[in-house]
Amino acid sequence: MGVYSEQVLPRIIDVACNLKESVPQRRRVCEGLAGDVVEIGFGSGLNVPFYPPAVTHVAAVEPADVGWKLAGKRLRATTIPVRRSGLDGESLPFADDRFDTALSTWTMCTIPDITAALRELRRVLKPGGTLHFVEHGLAPDERVRHWQHRLEPLQKRLFGGCHLTRPVVELLTDAGFTIREVDFFYEKGSPKFLGAHSLGVAQSP
Ligand SMILES: C[S@@+](CC[C@H](N)C(=O)[O-])C[C@H]1O[C@@H](n2cnc3c(N)ncnc32)[C@H](O)[C@@H]1O
Repeated sequence: MGVYSEQVLPRIIDVACNLKESVPQRRRVCEGLAGDVVEIGFGSGLNVPFYPPAVTHVAAVEPADVGWKLAGKRLRATTIPVRRSGLDGESLPFADDRFDTALSTWTMCTIPDITAALRELRRVLKPGGTLHFVEHGLAPDERVRHWQHRLEPLQKRLFGGCHLTRPVVELLTDAGFTIREVDFFYEKGSPKFLGAHSLGVAQSP
């Protein structure tokens, strides 16, 4: 971890992930979250204003100290208790079957071993618990995929290991989740290689 990834990148993410286009997506993905929630890749807490009142507690998992610091103003503005409870989605420090629901927004692209992270989410979610997600990933169109593969090495270098070609729904089903609902769309205002989005709810068995 150098100065760029520790100090600069979390600030870039705080701005880049806070564009107005993301607001309706954050609102939608947070709908239905309830009870004890684990959020992986919490970043600077941009989802906090969208947690529904049915959420009783959030365990935030985030490696970047600066991200957590930037979340301060959002944490002070909510009555929902949010605790930074872990540093790495690949290895969650929680008991099995602990959480009612889970949240991941634009994080599955970045966690190095996403298969391990999804296995962990399944482990800590109660049976039937749901993972709410909005993620960019592999596009359905071959022409866009071609550019995603070409640009991915640069994207990874600039944005802390962010992949462009992860097949989000396939990863979730391979991890044993059942997709309850999913919408695929290209995000308005983003280039297609970056804007191929899946937003939905996956259920743990
Ligand atoms: C593109 S940002 C998204 C942040 C936030 N979810 C949002 O919607 O604004 C990806 C986040 O994943 C975090 N991250 C990277 N590796 C991680 C890991 N192994 N476990 C959990 N989070 C990780 C990064 O620090 C960063 O905050």
